[in-house]
Amino acid sequence: RSPEEVEKEKQCLVVKEQLRSYRWKQAVLATAVIAMIAGLSAAGLVLVHPDDYSSYQPSNTCLDIAIPVVLFELFVLYAAWRRGECGGLNEAAQFVSSFVLVVITSKLWVFSQWGTRPAAGAVVGVSGCVVFVQFVLFVQATSLTATERLNLRWGAFKQILRPYFIPRGLRNKIFVVLTWIVLISGKVCAIYSPIILGQIVTNLTATPPTNPMGLIAIYCFLNLVPSLLQEVQDNLYVKVWQVAYAEVAETTFTHLHALSLEWHLKKRMGNIVRAMDRGMNGADTLMYYSMIYLFPALGSAIAAFVVFALHFQQREIAAVCFLAFGTYAWVTFTITVWRRKFREAMNKHDNEMHDKASDSLMNFETVKCFTNEEHEVNHYISSVHEYQKGSFKTQASTSVLNVSQSTTIQLAMLGSLLIASYCVVHHDDGFAPGEFVAIQAYVMTIFNPLSYLGMIYNSIINSLVDIQNLGDILIAPIEVTDAPDALELATTLLPSVGRAPMPGRSEDAAAGVSVEFRDVLFKYPTASATQGLKGISFTVPGGTTTAIVGPTGSGKSTIGRLLFRFYDVDAGSVLVNGEDVRHCTQHSLRRLIGVVPQDTSLFNETIRYNIKYGRIGATEEEMIAAAQQACVHEFVMRNDGGYDTMCGERGLKLSGGEKQRIAIARCLLKNPPVVLLDEATSALDNQTEREVQKAMECLEGRTTIMIAHRLSTVQRADQIIVLKDGVIVERGTHLQLLAVPDGAYAAMWNAQLL
Ligand SMILES: Nc1ncnc2c1ncn2[C@@H]1O[C@H](COP(=O)(O)OP(=O)(O)OP(=O)(O)O)[C@@H](O)[C@H]1O
Ligand SMILES: [Mg+2]
Repeated sequence: RSPEEVEKEKQCLVVKEQLRSYRWKQAVLATAVIAMIAGLSAAGLVLVHPDDYSSYQPSNTCLDIAIPVVLFELFVLYAAWRRGECGGLNEAAQFVSSFVLVVITSKLWVFSQWGTRPAAGAVVGVSGCVVFVQFVLFVQATSLTATERLNLRWGAFKQILRPYFIPRGLRNKIFVVLTWIVLISGKVCAIYSPIILGQIVTNLTATPPTNPMGLIAIYCFLNLVPSLLQEVQDNLYVKVWQVAYAEVAETTFTHLHALSLEWHLKKRMGNIVRAMDRGMNGADTLMYYSMIYLFPALGSAIAAFVVFALHFQQREIAAVCFLAFGTYAWVTFTITVWRRKFREAMNKHDNEMHDKASDSLMNFETVKCFTNEEHEVNHYISSVHEYQKGSFKTQASTSVLNVSQSTTIQLAMLGSLLIASYCVVHHDDGFAPGEFVAIQAYVMTIFNPLSYLGMIYNSIINSLVDIQNLGDILIAPIEVTDAPDALELATTLLPSVGRAPMPGRSEDAAAGVSVEFRDVLFKYPTASATQGLKGISFTVPGGTTTAIVGPTGSGKSTIGRLLFRFYDVDAGSVLVNGEDVRHCTQHSLRRLIGVVPQDTSLFNETIRYNIKYGRIGATEEEMIAAAQQACVHEFVMRNDGGYDTMCGERGLKLSGGEKQRIAIARCLLKNPPVVLLDEATSALDNQTEREVQKAMECLEGRTTIMIAHRLSTVQRADQIIVLKDGVIVERGTHLQLLAVPDGAYAAMWNAQLL
């Protein structure tokens, strides 16, 4: 198996492990929350309940707490046994807390018989807290087993979600706080309104009926306020979202530009852009659905349970709804986790589809040349079919989820309405139709938002996947970094093109910046051991020209990449002005060097933009002067649009020679003390080449590294280096090298003369 396959398998295992621990945590969370709420509300009931509610039986409270607590205990023990991973201190803590819990719960019954009410309440409260502590310990135990990578991912998650809670700037923080205040106020009004509705019905059904005009007004007002606040909240949230989006976008984009060239070469650009887009939208979806929708809905549901138990004295209905609530959540989580793989497969094929389309269209010319249109269409359509298959499975599994959810809701409705109607018919506890109506309204309050729970949970899971993908980008290590004590290389300013020489700068210019490669060993991370540069040493004294020639693939452009520090050398060092490039800031290093690359890629912008990219902020005159020197001005002027002509994607609307001359103009405008010309004039005809070369003579006085295949262009170099298979085989001036009998340079020269 190839290393790639092994790596992929490892990644799959990590993801599976993560899913498993995620599922455990969800289940434990659900059980613990149930136990905790039962425990704490029972404790509240015992402690706070006024004496006139004499119907209350402490022993019932004990059952309320004891059953979920024992269930939770069993679950924790089972989970710990299944995973067998809660080692060391954590295991001891688990054991002790379990023991304490079992003792307390077993004593509850005793308390209920003989104890005082406050004492029983205190015991129940303590057991609720122990459950909570145990839950925290359990989650910790499961996270302990997570691999380092997962922890890192969690770091990325935090980085992505943080701006939603703690954005930069006081004003933005106030927006966040206001959103929460408005949200909570709206929910409180909504919770109170069914009680008023119940009172209205009670007034109307009383004998004789009274006209509850005031109550009706209050009821309408309580219904109006939440919808008004909802609008306020939506508007506030837009602000929160915008701020967070901008912060995450900035972090991601900065990180992408800090990553190494190697990372970018390995990745498909389409995937990165999509992962970025989806991840940022995913963070928004996650926050909106969970913080603005789901948690408030859960809060309302819990409030409704409390109202059932305390206000209506209907613990049976509370229990039925609670059970349905738990079942609903469990069904939703289980099915959603199961169907996650369909969504992921769909995403994968969606990506594939887009990649194939863009790849094919970008290579439009090649496709035409080889008349492979049909092949391209088939290639693309196969991905479309795969995507559609995945999309069907996603839809089918959604239906399974929806059916299960609706069934659970309707069963809950059936149970609670049956109990409520029974109470009305038998006039239990003075139960009147008013209470029945209120209870019906509360059941709706609990389950209405839940009808979206599946969709919300799905969106949240999808967002988690999307955020994880963005997180993967954010945790990608920056391979080439500045040392903490990195030096700023002094920029030797040269008189700018089109500008009069700066007084007092000529000495610096004459001194130039020297470049040295000292015993450089380097191979690309993905290349085999025999490839790469094998112990290269040469010096380019300041202000001189060194040419590098050699067969294709011998490592000439690699030398340039090392000079720019796109990669770090494996051994030896690259020195600029005597400083190791690893000890200098990348920014100051790259500011010193100008490059005309082997294949120029231009922005899909105007020619002006592309030339000025060499020195953003250059004046129009400087830009035109540089263009004239690079012999591109006339060509530009022949275009109707002049300097406003668009270059097309990656500059494809221009010929190779035109692109090359724009790159030269850009480099002239940057006006750096070190120039790297990688086949800078290879695409030009002889006449233009000569003109451009003349233009480049103004670069003289600078340190120049010139890579060329056409040896006629390097004759005048102060030093010529012949590179072959990553080794320097010859060095000297043109004449010296020609004089070497059977020399590699002489052979190349003779071959080109023929
Ligand atoms: N990012 C990379 N990862 C792995 N191998 C690479 C990478 N870039 C280049 N190579 C390989 O390294 C070797 C040297 O490449 P380099 O671009 O330096 O050649 P060159 O001498 O400039 O050739 P040419 O004259 O064709 O431009 C080649 O075999 C090439 O395939
Ligand atoms: Mg090259």
